[in-house]
Formats: sequence, structure tokens, C-alpha cells
Amino acid sequence: MKANPHIATLDAYALTDTSGGLISLAQNESLRPPSPHAIAVAATAAANAQLYSDPGWTKLRAAIAKVHAIDPEVILCGAGSMELIAALAGAYLGPNERALTTAHGYLFFRTATRIAGAQIDLVSEPDMTIDVDALAAAITPETRIVFIANPGNPTGTRIDIDALWRLRTSMPCDVMLVVDEAYGEFSDTGRADESTFNLIQAGNTVILRTLSKAYGLAGQRIGWGAFPLEIASEVRKVLNPNNISSVSLAMATAAMRDQNYMRETVQLTHERRVDFMERVRKTGIFIPESYANFALLQFSSDEQAGAADAALRECGLLARAMGGYGLANCLRVTVGDEAAMLRTSVCLERFMEGQT
Ligand SMILES: Cc1ncc(COP(=O)(O)O)c(C=O)c1O
Repeated sequence: MKANPHIATLDAYALTDTSGGLISLAQNESLRPPSPHAIAVAATAAANAQLYSDPGWTKLRAAIAKVHAIDPEVILCGAGSMELIAALAGAYLGPNERALTTAHGYLFFRTATRIAGAQIDLVSEPDMTIDVDALAAAITPETRIVFIANPGNPTGTRIDIDALWRLRTSMPCDVMLVVDEAYGEFSDTGRADESTFNLIQAGNTVILRTLSKAYGLAGQRIGWGAFPLEIASEVRKVLNPNNISSVSLAMATAAMRDQNYMRETVQLTHERRVDFMERVRKTGIFIPESYANFALLQFSSDEQAGAADAALRECGLLARAMGGYGLANCLRVTVGDEAAMLRTSVCLERFMEGQT
């Protein structure tokens, strides 16, 4: 039996193969395990796994609402933020409609759009940074959603709150803006007047976050977002009613309540990223400023990036090749533990010495 044509012609979503025994710095996972409080509650939740999980995510929403000073009613939770991206596309995109994103933006925006039967348009990102004026100018009458990741993956760069407001106000009111802040905790300033959650009051604007990165819970699959109420009620219809397992919900709630641990992870990541980038930049490899838990290494050619990838593998390390993002001259390296970062920088130093 044939799948629908728009599915049959789609490639499966590409992830890096991490099965080869190399140290993976390829998936932007946290450099350390989740909060000990999250680990401690997992066994109790597992002991009650005969029961369905809470479909209203009540405790997790309350914890998120408290941390971010937002109304729990605007929050929806997903099995990873990917589920929420897919649900937004499923609820709001269809044949003959289009979504817009950036040239080097997160690939799942494209996949989710195509699964919904719609088309995706790309806008160039000069200097690896979102150009909000170019995005607004590229909106057509068919455009229904503008997806951006801020900070960007794989660029690591970000735009500030003023640029986000400029984007929102220069877009037609009936086009949805989805701001995916999967790496938001790494770039949060902590200033209430810079909170992006205020943007949802502009209408047709959604802010997405995840516990996969700064909270170290990628394997548990928990994302969330702040949605205008009318969008939340539509997206809810698309989500699986018990989408997050009870173990994941318990772990996520405990992790969210342990803000000190998360902030410590962010600080550690920041320090290690700065050290790593400093060492690697000295070798002549260009790295744009990063506000996330990874660095985008830009080589002088696609061939040099391929050779560096091979050299890293020889050193037992797995970076992420960026051809799929239109950046075949780049490798993305997640900030991992101290030994892995040292090994990576030493390996790259040797590699670049051999290039001259
Ligand atoms: C920009 C961006 N959004 C969403 C995700 C997926 O997050 P989740 O694990 O919450 O599905 C990722 C994962 O790497 C990402 O980079």
C-alpha cells in the first residue's frame, strides 16, 4: 500500500548515527545528567506506571508557570518540543499553504511543514544570524507560519527581544510566529522586560522551550510552550492525550523546581564553551558567537570540514556534519564533559597544523 504522495517522497528525519562507540558531541545534549531531585523521583513514578499519566500536566505546568511568571493556562506540554512543532504544523498548515524559516534553521521545521502537506520557504541568514527584515519581506499571501529558532541551531547566534518585536509587528497579524527557544536557558538574561513570553500577548505568537537541553532530560522527551489560548485549544486537539509518560512528568517537574541546578549547568556550559572556542579559534577555524550549548566550527572549504570530521572520528569523537543545513563547510560540536572538550581541541589543533 502506498503512503500519501507527500509522505512517500519525504526522506526520513536524519539524525547522526551515534552507535559507533565514538564520544558523541553531535546532538546538543547536556554536559551532565539531570538534577538529582529528578533522578530521585523517577523510581516512585515508575512504581505507579500501571496508571495513565496526567493529561493536563498539572504539576509540571504549575512549576513552569512559577519559574517563568506566566499563567499555567497558556502552557501546553509535548513529548519533546518536536511534538509541539509537529502539532502546530498539523493544526495550521495544509496543501497550498507555506511556512517560512531561515536558511540554516532547525531542520525539523521543514520536516513538520512537509508532513502537514505544506511547502517551506527559506530566507538567507547573513552572518549566520536571523535577518528579521528579510523574513518579514519574504512573507507571501500563502505563508501561514514563520518558524525561527532563537538561539539558532546550528548557528548558535541569537537576535534580541527588540528584533523579535520588530519581526512580530512587521508581520501580518494573521501569520503565526513560532519562536523555538530550545536553547533559551543558555541565553536568558533574567530581565523581566526581556522575557519573550510577553510576545504571546501580541497574538498568533508561540514560544517553545524544552527540558532536553539545559535541564539534561533529552531522553525523557519533554517540551513545552506558551500559546495564546485560542491556539492552545486547537493544538491540544492534535496532541496525544497522554503524550508524556508519568516518569517523564515527575522528572520534569522536579527538574523545573530545581532552578539552581539548571543555572549551574548553564554556567558550566558557558565556561567550557568559552574555553573551547578560544582554543579552537586560535587554530584559524572561524566560530560565530554562540548563545547555546554548542559551537559551529566553520572551515575554509567543504573538503576541509570533511577531513576535520574524519580526523575527529580518528580521535574517537563524533561531531555533527552540517551539509543538511546548507553548511557543508561547518561542523557543529556540542559542549560536553571536560575530557571530551580537551580531546576535541587538541585533535583540531593537530589537524589544523597539518593543513598549513
Ligand atoms: C532548535 C531546536 N528545537 C527543538 C529541538 C528538539 O527538542 P526536543 O528534544 O524537545 O524535541 C531541538 C533539538 O536539538 C532543537 O535544536
